[in-house]
Amino acid sequence: MRVAIIGSGPAGFYAAEALLKRADAVIDVDMFDRLPTPYGLVRGGVAPDHGKIKTVIRVFAATAARPTFRFLGNVCLGRDVTVEELRLHYHQIIYATGNEADRRLGIPGEGMTRCTPATVFVGWYNGHPDYREAKIDLSVRSVAVVGNGNVAVDAARILLRTPAELEKTDIAAHALETLRNSQVREVFLLGRRGPAQAAFSPAELKELGTLEAADAIVAPGELAGYAGNESTGDTEKDKNLKILRAYAAHPARTDAKKLHLRFCVSPTEIIADSAGRVAGIKLERNRLETRPDGTVAARGTGEIETLEVGMVLPAIGYAAERIAGVPYDEKARIIANENGRVVDPASRAVIANEYAVGWARSGPQGLIGEHKRASADVVAHMIADGVGLDLRALPGRDAIVALLRGRGVQPVSFSDWKQLDDVEVARGARRGAPRDKIVDVEAMLEVLGQG
Ligand SMILES: Cc1cc2nc3c(=O)[nH]c(=O)nc-3n(C[C@H](O)[C@H](O)[C@H](O)COP(=O)(O)OP(=O)(O)OC[C@H]3O[C@@H](n4cnc5c(N)ncnc54)[C@H](O)[C@@H]3O)c2cc1C
Ligand SMILES: NC(=O)c1ccc[n+]([C@@H]2O[C@H](COP(=O)([O-])OP(=O)(O)OC[C@H]3O[C@@H](n4cnc5c(N)ncnc54)[C@H](OP(=O)(O)O)[C@@H]3O)[C@@H](O)[C@H]2O)c1
Repeated sequence: MRVAIIGSGPAGFYAAEALLKRADAVIDVDMFDRLPTPYGLVRGGVAPDHGKIKTVIRVFAATAARPTFRFLGNVCLGRDVTVEELRLHYHQIIYATGNEADRRLGIPGEGMTRCTPATVFVGWYNGHPDYREAKIDLSVRSVAVVGNGNVAVDAARILLRTPAELEKTDIAAHALETLRNSQVREVFLLGRRGPAQAAFSPAELKELGTLEAADAIVAPGELAGYAGNESTGDTEKDKNLKILRAYAAHPARTDAKKLHLRFCVSPTEIIADSAGRVAGIKLERNRLETRPDGTVAARGTGEIETLEVGMVLPAIGYAAERIAGVPYDEKARIIANENGRVVDPASRAVIANEYAVGWARSGPQGLIGEHKRASADVVAHMIADGVGLDLRALPGRDAIVALLRGRGVQPVSFSDWKQLDDVEVARGARRGAPRDKIVDVEAMLEVLGQG
């Protein structure tokens, strides 16, 4: 059996592992990625100061070392190769393309200069080639980060870390340079619901209290209803509340930068200065309403305040990009699927031998480790569907490479990636960092002698 996996993030690698560990079948796996570098958001999303989490790439590298695994980086499905061509060259296809688009607030002023979605800011500081040219202007004193998830926390933390804290990480050199000259003194983290509904996890929230030159600040009024020992009935949320209470009780240092955690506010408009750049954000105060199903919704009260900030970073979630030829669920903004089996979005009929895993399958929720089980479950469907499958003869395994080269595409192999890896690690050693990323695809190909 020959399988194509599109996307080399955690979900793709865990699917490859589940396929290649099977003792009852010989499976050739070709893993494609549009970038020359593997690992998806582990490289391009996980914050640079969270190096420990990135050690998971050792597990993925072990999968890549299996004899029937092949990496074909620098190949974009929908641009360099079509779904039809994959169907000719493979018995089964797994889409593991993640969620690379951002969700929008949908308010006036969104999109003006210095209103930058988290996808862009995160990609920029992580050296993702798509965002190396992003204009991030940190000459402003105050920034509003919209959202109460872990991505919002990452963005706020990176804005407030000192250069000394950042230079020993794998942050992109261009971002480190800009952050060295940052004028940002104050960040507002804005949640539309209350402290008991915030999506961030306790470990991430607690870390905000350990920043060298910034204090996490919670005005006591923000914890109304939770000022004592009230329990939400949810251990994680209770841990968050305990940490927030500690922030509320802790006196802020006078000379420290400030991270204000605000709740129950929704942006209604972004205000421009005379040059058309962000000068402020209008916020509507919300009240919380419990729905019949027990979930809690934010409802606007009509009470508006204006926060003077020079930059707005909406971090309100990701969505899957549409890929030509791949069935797309418009509403959920994921690949149309039922339990990982790709379906026609209108009829919901199963499209044989095509599967989706990871965020492409389920949307932008969940941690790296959770994909191990989830991808293995989809592989179990594949094996079940493949039993008795008439394994038609395919073109030779190298035919796909010849096809790509014939159209001027230069696939990057896993040993090519290891070469890039060595170069990045050696560059990083000069500043005492684990790596200094190459952020330009052309430059990567130059290193490989393919530029
Ligand atoms: C900013 C951020 C920080 C995070 N930090 C953490 C953390 O600290 N800890 C944690 O556990 N989880 C973290 N997560 C969550 C974690 O990153 C995700 O759960 C996980 O990466 C999703 O895996 P995936 O394989 O579905 O997608 P991805 O990791 O996004 O991988 C998708 C891959 O598909 C490729 N691709 C896309 N389109 C195409 C195409 N058309 N052709 C070829 N290739 C394509 C991409 O280049 C990419 O390599 C974070 C998420 C974000 C957004
Ligand atoms: N260190 C880590 O472990 C780490 C780091 C980063 C990301 N991750 C993971 O990656 C996944 C994605 O993280 P995420 O932060 O992008 O998503 P998330 O956890 O879903 O958080 C999104 C946040 O945006 C808010 N939001 C959505 N629409 C909004 C709107 N229109 N106006 C105002 N606020 C809005 C949500 O509020 P509501 O709750 O009210 O909808 C929520 O607070 C999560 O599973 C996360 O845990 C983990």
